[in-house]
Amino acid sequence: MGGDPAYTRENAGRALGCEAAGGKGRSSRCVSAVETECRVSAEEKLSAVEGIKAASNFLRGTVAAELAEDSDQFSAESIQVLKHHGTYQQDNRDDRAAARADGKAGKQFSMMVRSRIPGGQLTASQLLAELDLCERFGGGTLRITSRQGLQIHGVVKARLRDVIAQINATGLSTLAACGDVNRNVMCCPAPYQTPVHLELQQLAQTLAHHFAPRTRAYREIWLCDAAGTPQRRVDENQGAGDDEPIYGRTYLPRKFKMGIALPHDNCIDVYTHDLGLLAVIEQDRVIGFNVLVGGGLGVTPSNKKTYPALAKRLGFVAARDVVAVAEAVVKVQRDHGNREDRKLARLKYLVDHWGIEAFRARVDAYCGHRLQPLHPAEVHAMCDHIGWEAQGDGRWYYGLNVENGRLADTPQRQWKSALRAICGTLAPGLRLTAHQSILLTNLQERDRPVLEEILRRHGVPLSEETSTVRRWSMACVAWPTCGLAITESERALPGLIDQLEAELDRWGLARDVFTVRMTGCPNGCARPYNADIGLVGKARGRYSVYLGGSPQGTRLNFLFQDLVPLEQIVPLLSPLFAAFRDQRQEGESFGDFCHRCGRDALCALAAPPPPPTA
Ligand code: HEM
Ligand code: SF4
Repeated sequence: MGGDPAYTRENAGRALGCEAAGGKGRSSRCVSAVETECRVSAEEKLSAVEGIKAASNFLRGTVAAELAEDSDQFSAESIQVLKHHGTYQQDNRDDRAAARADGKAGKQFSMMVRSRIPGGQLTASQLLAELDLCERFGGGTLRITSRQGLQIHGVVKARLRDVIAQINATGLSTLAACGDVNRNVMCCPAPYQTPVHLELQQLAQTLAHHFAPRTRAYREIWLCDAAGTPQRRVDENQGAGDDEPIYGRTYLPRKFKMGIALPHDNCIDVYTHDLGLLAVIEQDRVIGFNVLVGGGLGVTPSNKKTYPALAKRLGFVAARDVVAVAEAVVKVQRDHGNREDRKLARLKYLVDHWGIEAFRARVDAYCGHRLQPLHPAEVHAMCDHIGWEAQGDGRWYYGLNVENGRLADTPQRQWKSALRAICGTLAPGLRLTAHQSILLTNLQERDRPVLEEILRRHGVPLSEETSTVRRWSMACVAWPTCGLAITESERALPGLIDQLEAELDRWGLARDVFTVRMTGCPNGCARPYNADIGLVGKARGRYSVYLGGSPQGTRLNFLFQDLVPLEQIVPLLSPLFAAFRDQRQEGESFGDFCHRCGRDALCALAAPPPPPTA
């Protein structure tokens, strides 16, 4: 279906209601005059996924029919449609190997179900429900993601509807957690009771609501009985009608990510987003935002045209106009983003292709007024919100560092049980961080020893007992569930951190803050390309080692060495740590130091000493 050569941008233009591309009956709600300047030849061949979206009737496709079938897997078309509903089909690659060893052919399919949680804010009962679901219907663990969401892995197809329905019953949603739409809106989760934090967190909710797909497909498929009566609480946006006033019938060319940050706290890595909003604060009030566009980290090494990019500074918008400007940016990408080659479809390629001035002019035209010149406000710090801190209203929050976001009960550490006990005893508020950790909020002074005792009783390390390097580390899921993984990541990083702890101790650097991020392939889901140390799976057991990013997330790192075997990563870095200790300048992080020295100097430092001359 998707490969049908008859499917061209002309059809897509029609689907969008774009007259210039051959469409009729354009909806005025959907497309304004400036948006009809469809700009590409009608003969262009669109990617297969574009065809699937167009034919899906607003994300229905044949999902409902396939759910009723006995088979353990979805069709290729439904797999694409289902991403927009927040779920990926996967197979456990460990089990694949085991099955093969047993002489059995085939894969054992299951679904990953991702919840979209704007700003990472959820309630204790929502977390408890997700924990129950991962045990009843999933692989028994719950994962906090690097974008403030939750993932349950290992849900078999026959249970998918139960899981999605029950997530919705708690007031969360999986709609648009994945797919070619605006995904989870990230925002600093700190529960400080300041007007600025509250306003930004409210904005995250507003943007999430504004950009949620309107299609009724989600509630029809997951939340209604056979007669079409809703069985579950539904977001009022879902059900208004199938006219997608923002996205149109083919949604966006590729995923789209938004994040909101503060200059003194870039905890959500605002420069890695398609659309970043950096709050401009004057006299404790948000007066507006510096708008950043075109961040995105995914790379395909075999395609030399792909690269990781930090967002570029576009202009300033007053707080009252920020949603309109966000909508204009999304619509520019909708209409002009690359729909032929998904590898070149993220907004970053459009921004770079046009240049920031031309992009700004187009955004101005779409929203009908001009962005103002940038405010000097810029990111200058970040906080991971780990440990005890006062909220500002007499209460406390505790940032609990969860290694790689994995909530599991093992004989040594009972993360799930500890969180259940904390929720049951203290009924805290909860927030997920962009570093795959969790904040337990609204605690009284008297709750502090109770919380610490529960953690100790369950073998969960207190954040204060976690080394700095582990606390600032992050890994993507990779093996065994991610079908794109080339190497281990989540299962390899803890061992590597053990080695790093010993090495950093040796050089007196145990208290230095720098980020170490690992991914199992170059797609970059744990944001390795702006970390002080980025480790990217490149070939079985081997990693590209990137150096020179910053804890504030404002600089891309550079490739230092390629194809380094896992066990040689720490020995490779060791002489650099020694040089950093001896030669660092005031206030430099390890990444700053590497950036200042540059690759050649670092290579010389890391090289084994030349053989002695006679
Ligand atoms: C562009 C290419 C990318 C592709 C094809 C891709 C694909 C995937 C897949 C298949 C998973 C599921 C893994 C699993 O749960 O088993 C995943 C997880 C995830 N991805 Fe990506 N991804 C890409 C880039 C990114 C980037 C650049 C980010 C953010 C900077 C990101 C954020 C995430 C997050 C938050 C998860 C959830 C699990 C985690 O926290 O590790 N992805 N991605
Ligand atoms: S970075 Fe690669 S291996 Fe890791 S979760 Fe993303 S797609 Fe999978």
